[in-house]
Amino acid sequence: MARRFEGWGVVVTGASAGIGEAAARGFAAEGARVLLVARGAEKLEAVAASIRAGGGDAHTLAADVGDPAACRHIIQAALADLGRLDVLVNNAALHHRGAIDEVSPEDLATMVDVNLRSPIYLTCLALPHLRAQGSGSVVQVASLAGCTPTPGATVYSATKFGLRAFSRALAMELASSGVKFSIVSPGPVDTGFIMDDLEHVADLALSQPISTAAEVAAAILDSAADGRLERRLPALSGVLATVAYLSPGLARRLQPALARKGARVRQRLLAERGKPRP
Ligand SMILES: NC(=O)c1ccc[n+]([C@@H]2O[C@H](COP(=O)([O-])OP(=O)(O)OC[C@H]3O[C@@H](n4cnc5c(N)ncnc54)[C@H](OP(=O)(O)O)[C@@H]3O)[C@@H](O)[C@H]2O)c1
Repeated sequence: MARRFEGWGVVVTGASAGIGEAAARGFAAEGARVLLVARGAEKLEAVAASIRAGGGDAHTLAADVGDPAACRHIIQAALADLGRLDVLVNNAALHHRGAIDEVSPEDLATMVDVNLRSPIYLTCLALPHLRAQGSGSVVQVASLAGCTPTPGATVYSATKFGLRAFSRALAMELASSGVKFSIVSPGPVDTGFIMDDLEHVADLALSQPISTAAEVAAAILDSAADGRLERRLPALSGVLATVAYLSPGLARRLQPALARKGARVRQRLLAERGKPRP
C-alpha cells in the first residue's frame, strides 16, 4: 500500500462512524498520525483502539464541533498530540430532515452551526499553522445537495452550498500560500446518516446510486494528497447535479421522475430492513 501521509498530522472530525471513520482508518494506514474527533467518546475510542491494534497512530478528542471553544481545543490538541498539523478534514455534520415548516429554529441553528460555521471556524484556526508551513490541506466534506438545490433538504442543502462557496473562495484568496483546499461532495452513502433515517431522506437524494463510506474516504485521501479543488461521486451523479444547477428549468422538469425513482428506492431499502413502509 502507498504511504502518502507518512508522519503527517491529520485531524478528522466525525471520525467515530461512517465516512469519517473510514477516512481516519485510511490516513492511519498510509502512515499519518490521526486525531479523531466526535462527540461520543466510547465509539471514538473503539475506532482509535482498532487503528492502533493495526499498527496505526490514533489519538482521540471527544468534542462537539458546534461549540467554538471546542474547535479551539481541537486545533490545540492536534498540535500537542500529533506534533504537527498537515490535513484538516471537516467531515462532521448533521441533518434534521423535513419540509421547511417542520424545521424548528433550534434545529436550523444547529445545522448551520455544525455544518457551516464549525468547518469555517476550524479552517480559520488551522490556517495560521498551515500558512506558516507553506503546505497542508483542508478537505471539506460537502454533498451533492450542496451542488444542486435539493427540495426536502433545504437548510442542509444551503449549509453545504455555503461550505463549498467558502472553500472555493478561500482557494482563490490563498492561491499562493502553498495550502490546498478541496471539497468532496458525495451523493447518498451507505452510513447511518441516511440509513438510520430512511423514512425522512429526500426522494431526490435516494434517486442516485449509493456509494460506500470507503469510496468517499478514498476521495478524501486523494484530495488531501493532490489538492484537487472538487470531487463529486458517483461521477455521473456529479455531472447530473451540475447540469441541474446550471439549468433550473430542466431540473424542475426532471425532478418528478427522479423523486418517483427515489421513493421506489426508499421502499426497497425499508423492505430489505424489515421496516414498515411509510
Ligand atoms: N451519508 C450520506 O448519505 C452523505 C451524503 C452526502 C454527504 N454526506 C456528508 O458526509 C459527512 C459524514 O457523513 P456520514 O454519512 O459519515 O455520517 P455518520 O455516519 O452519521 O457519522 C457522523 C459522524 O459525525 C460525528 N458528529 C456528528 N455531529 C457532531 C458534532 N456536532 N461534533 C462532532 N462530531 C459530530 C458523529 O459522532 P457523534 O454523534 O458521536 O458526535 C459521527 O462520528 C457529513 O458531512 C455529511 O453531511 C453524507
